[in-house]
Amino acid sequence: MRIQNNMWKAVILIGGPDKGTRFRPLSLDVPKPIFPVAGIPMIQHHIEACSKVPEIKEVNLIGFFHYTEMLKSFITMAKQKYSLSIKYLSEYGPLGTAGGLYHFRDQILSGTPEAFFVFNSDVCCNFPLSDILHFHQSKNGDNRITIVATEATHSESMSYGCLVEDENTNEATHYVEKPETFVSSLINCGVYVFTPDVLRCYMAEVFRQHQEESLEMGMGDSNFPDAIKLETEILAGYAGSGKMFVYKTKEIWGQIKSAASAIHANKLYLSVYRRTKPEVLAKKNPDGPIIRGDVFIHESASVDPTAVLGPNVTLGENVEIGAGVRVSNSIVLSGAKLNDHCCVLNTIIGWKCKVGEWSRVEGTAQQPDPNAPYSKIISGQLFNEDGRLIPSITVLGREVDVAPEIIILNSIVLPNKNIHANSKNQIIL
Ligand code: GTP
Repeated sequence: MRIQNNMWKAVILIGGPDKGTRFRPLSLDVPKPIFPVAGIPMIQHHIEACSKVPEIKEVNLIGFFHYTEMLKSFITMAKQKYSLSIKYLSEYGPLGTAGGLYHFRDQILSGTPEAFFVFNSDVCCNFPLSDILHFHQSKNGDNRITIVATEATHSESMSYGCLVEDENTNEATHYVEKPETFVSSLINCGVYVFTPDVLRCYMAEVFRQHQEESLEMGMGDSNFPDAIKLETEILAGYAGSGKMFVYKTKEIWGQIKSAASAIHANKLYLSVYRRTKPEVLAKKNPDGPIIRGDVFIHESASVDPTAVLGPNVTLGENVEIGAGVRVSNSIVLSGAKLNDHCCVLNTIIGWKCKVGEWSRVEGTAQQPDPNAPYSKIISGQLFNEDGRLIPSITVLGREVDVAPEIIILNSIVLPNKNIHANSKNQIIL
């Protein structure tokens, strides 16, 4: 019998530079997992949630990014702020969503944790971790998985991993990743709990089979024979074994794949702040600026009292907002300057951009279907079947300078451009 202690860990799968392609050009400047949403890096939301669960003592980030200054300083900041042990475990290449877990099993299992959380980095959620932890503890079996799931609409579900649950026992009886025909409207949220034996036994067996296959077939079609896909190689096989359980959540949930979905996630996280820490949101104040709905303003930002901000706006560090400026449903990244009377709607304004006076930078927001209660936003395609840009939010890459009195509509502007002409539905290279 194994001695169980009450110590838990967490793993965040952060991917690497060849991931996050739908997030370009923003992911050219910063690894997508530390792109700020609602004022803090995407994975800081996960870490903050972990820091509120006393059992979680350590968070491991697994990925194949170079360990750059940016990543280092994020980890240093997060360690100090949350008093957690946080480590970066660097894969030698893309080992898939489960290969890194197996590769770093000794580090993950050191100190004999009772169980560990696994998170996809690109999910937005308010992470009810204590509840999930107690749910996992309430189930039996040394080698069990808890998988967090939420409802989607029938048509949207097919873009996700779909689960069938035995509602009496909460067992997952079936799992199919992105099925071609409808399986279930219950979808995988990319948040899991594993007991250590899943790594020691089941993953070890999957890994062994991989090794045998790659010996038989040479390297096969992958340069990384150690790569394992959690969804298709572990979860699909585990379903129906009586050892995988479904924790259903009705909390907010979304994926952050494209820039448009970052705007949506920004809105979801700001709505969570309103419930859990309203003090961080901008207050309405008769001396202005005018605040509509949820707005987050970094303490170093300067905003003219005649500006109108919101709903769903985040202003980063040292952002400057001029007189009469209007911003809604947008993220304005650090160092950007919005000059007097410009208007920014449904847009991500990149670091140190400048928007000229009376210019209008506008995108089209993608929203969940208002008539479908479980609708999510599908954060996918940039182009339709004809190769045309699907109208979406506007994104200005780093240090873009928009001249005064220009209109930019549903466009993606690559970094360091000077824009002197109007544009609509374009990618400006
Ligand atoms: P797509 O819709 O095709 O993007 O699939 P998905 O939503 O299942 O996402 P994907 O499997 O690509 O990634 C899920 C999570 O795992 C994300 O947080 C990725 O950053 C992370 N991830 C993906 N591949 C790897 C990998 O090779 N290594 C590590 N460490 N993380 C990965």
